[in-house]
Amino acid sequence: MPYPYFVISIIISFFLIGVIIWKRSKASQENIYISSRQKQNKKHFKNLNNLPNEVKANKIYYQRLLKKKEALKTYSLKEYAITTSRTLNDNQKEFLYTELKKFPLPSGAAWQLSEMLRDPMVDSKEVAALASTDPVISGRLLALVNSAYFRPSSGKEITSIHHAILYLGFNQVRNLLFQLMLEQTVNKHSPLSKEEVNKIWLHSATVSVAAGEIAKKFQDPPGLALTAGLMHDVGKFFLPYFKQEETGGLLLHEDTEELPPVIAEENATGFNHQVIGEVLCYIWRLPKEIATTVAFHHFGDYSHFKKLPKRTQKVIITVALADYICHLLGYADEEKYLYLISEEALKTCGFPSHPEFLITPSLEKEIEKMINLLKGYSSKGLKL
Ligand SMILES: [Fe+2]
Ligand SMILES: [Fe+2]
Repeated sequence: MPYPYFVISIIISFFLIGVIIWKRSKASQENIYISSRQKQNKKHFKNLNNLPNEVKANKIYYQRLLKKKEALKTYSLKEYAITTSRTLNDNQKEFLYTELKKFPLPSGAAWQLSEMLRDPMVDSKEVAALASTDPVISGRLLALVNSAYFRPSSGKEITSIHHAILYLGFNQVRNLLFQLMLEQTVNKHSPLSKEEVNKIWLHSATVSVAAGEIAKKFQDPPGLALTAGLMHDVGKFFLPYFKQEETGGLLLHEDTEELPPVIAEENATGFNHQVIGEVLCYIWRLPKEIATTVAFHHFGDYSHFKKLPKRTQKVIITVALADYICHLLGYADEEKYLYLISEEALKTCGFPSHPEFLITPSLEKEIEKMINLLKGYSSKGLKL
């Protein structure tokens, strides 16, 4: 090659290498949160100015969170038609209802009260009189009304049961009663070991806290989110009662190693923890929104979800986000993984497309507080 051409080609090569290095460093500056596995998210981070202020101010914190996310397995369920009570055939429905009716909620003051509260015109003084006969109900009512979520803005502690009921409202009191009855039923009937039961409770309690925090952040009343969060995995307590041979089904999905856990449950038992939880909610006469949230909290095929009322969709996403956050932070009851949440669902209900940016140091603190509280109960030999 003649000498001038050789020099020109060297200069061009250096120029091209320079352009490639410059482009790469620019991309890595703009996308500091992105690993090679998250390239599909790249479009959302093109401009750092679009990130929430909290994220911009705590870059190291969020980099650490995204690293945690990279280490987890992620599953998308959008291709799966997950079983809900709407997709069960008559035989499956009858079988599931018959089996689950064997686990009734305890009758007693809590049941009587929750039946009483079905009538919105009931006299609150009568409700308070009945609630006062049960020390557990009274204690939990006062603890709830004076908790961080409901504490009166005056800061004054509420000590009267009647006042607590008026302050919380009948719906929230009913939610609390369901929680109490559920705890007793699970402790009595779940075939799982005490350790396994406690793991699910712990996960459920952290999801409940996170759901309440998310609801508050988006100006929704936290009561429903707190209860739906606590109940979301209730089907897991009873899942081991079901075996594929007894339900008489064939494998519902092609059996591969990579099946998402909720789909593997359907292959092993004929059902999944969502539909078991949903039917339990109907049997126990829980509010419909809670039953639907339990049924859909891992979504599956988004077309079914889209038909639900907007308010219910929002509660479901709140719980799904809380579940995602707790799995990401390591508060899971089993192997660590994440179920991705449909971007379309997040967008329609006005949630940010990156759930990890809903995590804040103060949210983590709230969850830790709950864990310490439960561990405190446990050391005193109480339920958890
Ligand atoms: Fe779940
Ligand atoms: Fe969960």
